[in-house]
Amino acid sequence: MAPMTRGRSGPTRVPNELNVAYYAARASAGLIITEGASFSQEAHGWVASAGLETQEQVEGWKKVVDAVHAKGGLISVQLWHMGRASHSSFRADKALPVAPSAIAIQGDMHIADGSKAPSEVPRALETSELPRVASDFAAAAARAKEAGFDFVEIHGANGYLLDEFLQSAANQRTDAYGGSKENRFRLIGEVIEAVTKVYPANRVGIRLSPNGVYNSMGGADNADEFVYYISRINEYKLGWLHLMDGLAFGFHEKGRPFMLSEARAVYDGPIMANCGYTQETAEAAIAAGHADAVSFGRPFLNNPDLVERFRDGIALSDMLPLPLWYSPGAEGYTDVPTAQELSK
Ligand SMILES: Cc1cc2nc3c(=O)[nH]c(=O)nc-3n(C[C@H](O)[C@H](O)[C@H](O)COP(=O)(O)O)c2cc1C
Repeated sequence: MAPMTRGRSGPTRVPNELNVAYYAARASAGLIITEGASFSQEAHGWVASAGLETQEQVEGWKKVVDAVHAKGGLISVQLWHMGRASHSSFRADKALPVAPSAIAIQGDMHIADGSKAPSEVPRALETSELPRVASDFAAAAARAKEAGFDFVEIHGANGYLLDEFLQSAANQRTDAYGGSKENRFRLIGEVIEAVTKVYPANRVGIRLSPNGVYNSMGGADNADEFVYYISRINEYKLGWLHLMDGLAFGFHEKGRPFMLSEARAVYDGPIMANCGYTQETAEAAIAAGHADAVSFGRPFLNNPDLVERFRDGIALSDMLPLPLWYSPGAEGYTDVPTAQELSK
């Protein structure tokens, strides 16, 4: 199950009974990757998403993890720093969001009170602050360990902080963390090194979105640059490389698309593909040797028993309507029936 922010944890960001029921109902996924869990004041930026910052949040996650384990599932948290996609309204000190460079995302965003406002021009992180960013990821991994997560996934996708460092669309730095692709890789490399001191490398996954357009990302050289980044990640022997190769969530169209087969040529470890796959296209990607696994996002929203439906050839429920993706409460979250419940 692919990571999906659902905004069901309220203003405290403490995982609650609804979250427990939602994840437990999807334990047959085999491996659940949770919604992005932001882990510091600087990292937060989504209304009511679950946090991994406080002890109370750790205790809340423990209940989620225990419930998934009790049903025989495995669960990874996703470590999320929102970078410039955050907003000062999410912070007690009302400081600006941080990013590699002072370049804003185009357009409006949802701010802390749920209304929409223009994205802010972020504050460029000082070079001297970057070791602290890596250690914030490691501290969050330590909290994940305390909560009992089997794995952690580093969120390096979708125009959040680490992806911003990788791509020239957001990174115009002139220090050792910008300019060349070697320099743009530096922060994510340091984050991987820090997190793999907390979890063994084969318990750490990483997610990238080489084709993504979300959060004003994308560039002419993306496809080639991501092949380089993947060749660098190969050195760390991680548990998985999670690639949003599919174009179903929008494509930047500033260059050619990145292909899954390009990753295979430079990557020895397990590759998990994602984005717009169906049972058939997923099986074809695996049969062709392009991926070892495929994660599903949206199909899980309205099909908690997605795996059983695939196995038994049962039709999927319609896509969950968009207004229910991030809305508070049980509707469209824990009241979603399995095929067995539907047939009663
Ligand atoms: C409601 C919703 C929330 C999402 N939240 C996250 C997230 O927290 N972290 C992440 O990496 N991707 C997130 N995504 C992207 C999904 O993980 C996935 O890449 C996307 O839905 C495409 O896969 P699919 O076609 O199987 O749905 C989200 C997608 C949806 C629909």
